[in-house]
Amino acid sequence: MRPDEISFRLPPPAAAIPARPPEPVPTMVPLTIDGRAVEMPAGSTLLDACKTLDITVPTLCYLETLTPVNACRVCVVEVEGARVLAPACSRQVESGMVVKTRSPRVDLSRKVVLELLGSSVDLSTAPGLAEMMVEYGARPERFQESLGSASSVSSVAQPVKIDNDLYVRDYGKCVLCYKCVEACGTDAQHTFAIAVAGRGFHAHISTELDVPLPDSACVYCGNCIAVCPTGALMATPEFELRQAGAWRPETQAVTDTICPYCGVGCTLTVHVQDQQIVKVTSPFDNDVTRGNLCVKGRFGFEYVNK
Ligand code: SF4
Ligand code: SF4
Ligand code: FES
Repeated sequence: MRPDEISFRLPPPAAAIPARPPEPVPTMVPLTIDGRAVEMPAGSTLLDACKTLDITVPTLCYLETLTPVNACRVCVVEVEGARVLAPACSRQVESGMVVKTRSPRVDLSRKVVLELLGSSVDLSTAPGLAEMMVEYGARPERFQESLGSASSVSSVAQPVKIDNDLYVRDYGKCVLCYKCVEACGTDAQHTFAIAVAGRGFHAHISTELDVPLPDSACVYCGNCIAVCPTGALMATPEFELRQAGAWRPETQAVTDTICPYCGVGCTLTVHVQDQQIVKVTSPFDNDVTRGNLCVKGRFGFEYVNK
């Protein structure tokens, strides 16, 4: 057969192409939240149900793109008949559940969690935490008062780790929510450069053998920065602007665009202050990135500012 006689067309199917199987119809689970009835697909969480009803439940270690780890317990709600409070971010709906998202027990639990965090961790750059403290009447200082002096309280305060040009790690602001570990691991990046080391109060986020970041497996995607809820992990331009007292998010223009570097075409959200790009993120609800980028998309913008 001569090359020009070769046909690259697929032969017609010998039998009818089978029809696509119908989408499974989800089993709906009825429950009541704050006196309001709702039906959710089986497998949904209480947090999903609260969102359906426009009921706000505070979260810290939860993110829609990550597997819930139940680390913070800020999201607890009261389930009628249950002995303990349930974390809304991971507890699945059950038929006939009666749930209260605000009650004296829930509010007290959230208040104490916030006070414990605030008494040992610097929450000054955690978005929304100050408002949450006010809403629940949290007074972290009362632990210091009851112990006699501020220095009695165990704190995770420590020097900021600056060992590379792209981002800094200030573990004095770390609430051990595990989000960065998950983003670096099986939930997104699969690099496994960081994990939780130590036990009890000595538990901390660390590279393997606590080596500096440039000596670790880190590929500088910055996906850990994107999920960190406290600013413990922060891109260097933002860190430097904050140090200089010049970080002004309220003045920043935020624009979505497409990354110019490769054919994946990730959506970039560019944050511009004083005509300079100061930060790049990606939307968590974007089907392509789910908030994740690579080193080029997240950090490769400084040439624009020259
Ligand atoms: S560094 Fe940030 S994301 Fe990682 S555990 Fe600490 S607070 Fe959570
Ligand atoms: S962020 Fe990285 S993977 Fe995404 S388009 Fe840019 S270069 Fe490609
Ligand atoms: S947000 Fe549910 S346990 Fe942290």
